[in-house]
Amino acid sequence: MNAMRPLAIVLCSIAIAAVAGAQDLPAGPGKDTVEKVCTTCHGLEAIVTMQGNKDIWQSVVDDMKGRGADGSNEDFTAIVNYLGKYFGPNVNVNTAAAKALTDDLGLTSSEADAIVKYRADKGNFKEFADLKKVPGLDASKLEPIQKRIKF
Ligand code: HEC
Repeated sequence: MNAMRPLAIVLCSIAIAAVAGAQDLPAGPGKDTVEKVCTTCHGLEAIVTMQGNKDIWQSVVDDMKGRGADGSNEDFTAIVNYLGKYFGPNVNVNTAAAKALTDDLGLTSSEADAIVKYRADKGNFKEFADLKKVPGLDASKLEPIQKRIKF
């Protein structure tokens, strides 16, 4: 019986590692679809190490479809939207045009306009906390993608 114990410990650590791996993706609409459709051939590392706007993710997803990725059109749209938002390009909130703020950060156009107006009135943002002062912007939406926001 005792001989079984080391094996149980090894299996246990593998289970913990698998759970930790699954947490690599930030929570958001489309996360479950990415985990379902995009992990049958490779792990999430291929995905989480890449950054790109929606056009870039669309071409990656089209490529993966060609390789046999299996999902509905809705699944693929959800995946491109999710990856474009959480694994999008870096965005400088002091220089980005409103369109980049909506497309690459997932903000609404009124939130993007609020950022543009605020920086024109008050000068450049210096740190993430400054975004919390912008009236009409829900800065908590940006917290999961904070590392992509540049000043
Ligand atoms: C049918 C198998 C399969 C599925 C499902 C799959 N991939 Fe891939 N993926 C591959 C292969 C094979 C490679 C390696 C390509 C290479 O080395 O040229 C790869 C590589 C990648 C890369 C590395 C960059 C690149 O373009 O080579 C990314 C990013 C990627 N996949 C994203 C995804 C996403 C997002 C999904 C879900 C929509 C997905 N993959 C689903 C087979 C798959």
